Amino acid sequence: MLTYKFPWIFELAFKIPPLLIWRKKSLKTLVRAIRELSIQPHKILDIGCGAGVLTPVIKKLYPEAEIFGIDNSIDMINFARMRYGNLAEFKVINFLGYEGSYDLIIGFYSFEFFPLFEGIKRIKKLLNPGGMCIIVTTGRAPFSILHRFFVSKLLRTELYLYSPSDFYKFLVEENFSLRTKIISEIEGSYLLSIKSLG
Ligand SMILES: C[S@@+](CC[C@H](N)C(=O)[O-])C[C@H]1O[C@@H](n2cnc3c(N)ncnc32)[C@H](O)[C@@H]1O
Repeated sequence: MLTYKFPWIFELAFKIPPLLIWRKKSLKTLVRAIRELSIQPHKILDIGCGAGVLTPVIKKLYPEAEIFGIDNSIDMINFARMRYGNLAEFKVINFLGYEGSYDLIIGFYSFEFFPLFEGIKRIKKLLNPGGMCIIVTTGRAPFSILHRFFVSKLLRTELYLYSPSDFYKFLVEENFSLRTKIISEIEGSYLLSIKSLG
């Protein structure tokens, strides 16, 4: 697989509609969902953090928490470090082999890169008892199918589009409870609030 090479182009795309509007809406939904968790996490992990878009958002919600961003693209991580290295620790790491323990894990448009079962098993390994996880991802809407086609060709990798019911099946088996919120019908994005039941 190739990795994301040009973080500034990636971020530039989000300055223009419709991506600008969708990202704003997703961030708003994410912030609301995090507030509803009513937890005080000490360690927070941002999976596939990219250029660090979530870092200031998380820092504002939890100023005392330690924030870690991981991504397998060195260019994304360097860009994130340059922008928000004072707010979080960023590491170049493949999520699927990552070890650690966190109270809150967030995957913001990164689960499209992971085989579902492997991704969920890894979340289970990384979450502390009573920990929570929020995943924001895209489903099988026409825009996302098209987007997946181009990105998978560009990065020469498999990309996955899951529906909430795909997550339900695996998460219940792994002893998680979850709630779904639809974000955008056009983009097909939705948010999952996931709680480990032990
Ligand atoms: C669509 S981007 C989202 C970035 C960021 N969360 C955002 O919303 O701006 C997906 C990110 O996941 C990263 N990624 C893909 N596969 C990964 C893996 N196996 N481990 C860690 N990061 C990965 C990519 O490098 C990319 O930065």
